[in-house]
Amino acid sequence: MVRAADDVVCVGDVADVFGGGGRAVLCLERDGTRVEEVLLLRLRHGVLAVVNRCPHLGRSLDDARLRGHMLTCRGHGRSYNLRSGRPAGTLAPGPPRLRRVPAWISGGRLFADVRGIV
Ligand code: FES
Repeated sequence: MVRAADDVVCVGDVADVFGGGGRAVLCLERDGTRVEEVLLLRLRHGVLAVVNRCPHLGRSLDDARLRGHMLTCRGHGRSYNLRSGRPAGTLAPGPPRLRRVPAWISGGRLFADVRGIV
């Protein structure tokens, strides 16, 4: 799905967005050009969203392995904590981290604040 890249967007009904799965990709465009993607993850207690690019070398995280709150990129196996965005095993603020996107469910609909992403 594609949405404008500079607003709070209603992605849609949660059941429609995720279908029977636990993840979906929101494509953001500006002036008709795709500028970024947001990976939406349906978790047991809500939803999490991150910019769909691995901080290591930029690979898409569409197929990343999700275990608990850890997302592991299939490119080179780096894992990231979805709560902090930090790579596994690091507490320092230095290493590149996942870019979280505010997302929430209200009234059965999924919303994402994509302002400032691109
Ligand atoms: S691109 Fe994701 S671990 Fe290298």
